[in-house]
Amino acid sequence: QAGATTEAETFDLVIAANRLPVDKVVLDDGTVEWQRSPGGLVTAMESVMAGREGAWVGWTGQPGDEADAPFHNEGIYLRPVALTADEIAAYYEGFSNDTLWPIYHDVIVPATFHRAWWSAYEAVNRRFADAVCEVAAPGAVVWIHDYQLQLVPALVRAQRQDVRIGWFNHIPFPPVELFAQLPWRKRVLAGLLGADFLGFQRVADAKNFVRACRQLGGWQTKGQNVVVADPPREHRIVRAAAVPISIDTQGLAELANRPETRARARELRASLGNPEVLMLGVDRLDYTKGIRHRLKAYEELLDDGQIAPPDVTFVQIATPSRERVEAYRQLREEVELTVGRINGNHSVIGAPAVHYIHHGYPREEMVALFLAADVMVVTPLRDGMNLVAKEYVASRTDYGGALVLSEFTGAYHELHQAFVCNPHDIEGLKNAMLHAIQTPADQKRRIMRALRRRVMAHDVQRWAARFLADLTGTS
Ligand code: ADP
Ligand code: F6P
Repeated sequence: QAGATTEAETFDLVIAANRLPVDKVVLDDGTVEWQRSPGGLVTAMESVMAGREGAWVGWTGQPGDEADAPFHNEGIYLRPVALTADEIAAYYEGFSNDTLWPIYHDVIVPATFHRAWWSAYEAVNRRFADAVCEVAAPGAVVWIHDYQLQLVPALVRAQRQDVRIGWFNHIPFPPVELFAQLPWRKRVLAGLLGADFLGFQRVADAKNFVRACRQLGGWQTKGQNVVVADPPREHRIVRAAAVPISIDTQGLAELANRPETRARARELRASLGNPEVLMLGVDRLDYTKGIRHRLKAYEELLDDGQIAPPDVTFVQIATPSRERVEAYRQLREEVELTVGRINGNHSVIGAPAVHYIHHGYPREEMVALFLAADVMVVTPLRDGMNLVAKEYVASRTDYGGALVLSEFTGAYHELHQAFVCNPHDIEGLKNAMLHAIQTPADQKRRIMRALRRRVMAHDVQRWAARFLADLTGTS
């Protein structure tokens, strides 16, 4: 339960992320509720912070001129950062999600450049840095997250030489040829180099960053290290390495083993008409997730007569995301048009070919859905990790199910025994889906066993411990 606090408190561990773990929701009657924020970052860091004492600096998800008072929520001290409606448009929807997001995801849609957006990004990063310095105790560990806050490391260092500063990127870091497009590229690199340690999802992401420092910034590099001038000292070394993120595997497995979750999974299947094959997609409604490619492949399989309802059905859960950004609006229109066409052409009464749901679900319901699904379809065109793939595997304590997984996810580098696909290759994607449906059950169980071994051994607590050890120099 949220409880307001008036005293300024300081902490030995401070994390900063664009969003707080809870979003502020103002109801019609004016009362305020706090609801869990969307996305993989919150899923991961919520678990990490659950066992620790610390502060979380972030935005409430609502416009406002003044920050809400800090408050304690589930043991964490939350320090809200205020963003005005203009700043949300320029810093969050604009620079973060219409400039950086496309560049960091292979320019799947073109990036937009506006100098005013950059100014807002700088101003908001400065405000985050001030808030971090306010709540960081002497010698604290400061852990900054993601592409929205790339200037914060250097801004914190300028004020506080006593703290240890780390940054983790939940999304990919682009190849230098794409990063080079960014007019403020050197200032972004300088912002990040304010950190002591930089964590990335894949080895390739860390290498891309080091290469960008060398080629675009002229910094000296050696292996994972970048050499930064740091007067009055001679220099400082910043290390950039891969620390792939994970999930609360034990928590999910426990949830999956509960009799009520299993009963709910059976109930879900029954309400879908007990199909022979239930296929499932779960994503934020984002163009990086390859939802259009997935639907196209599924539609062609239906057109070719290789599968048909009521034997086969597809459930696509698409959480609303960044709805004021044009590319996201367009995506929603296209997905909804496609779902309408597929259902018009292929549904039978009482058995739609696609069930499309445009909202989020509580964790318990997600795990029941994972348990109910015969084939989980994860087809991003580019994704830093994709926690959904790992969550599916962790939930399959029964060793059932099959995972179709894009090779353009971070998860692929750990889960390559899955039914792997290149989502751009529609024939290949169709084959991967069919293969996942048709492979004999005992073979699928062997695959799931191998996937589970990997996921269960590398959970989110281990990830956090490794990041913090790298940051504090104890690894
Ligand atoms: P991203 O961070 O890009 O959104 P991830 O797959 O890494 O993608 O993480 C998404 C997180 O949000 C996962 O923990 C997933 O379970 C959760 N999630 C995604 N869609 C929904 C939904 N419709 N309802 C509830 N949780 C969802
Ligand atoms: O990891 C990518 C990310 O942008 C995270 O920063 C965030 O948790 C998630 O996706 C959701 O995005 P948004 O905060 O823009 O809704």
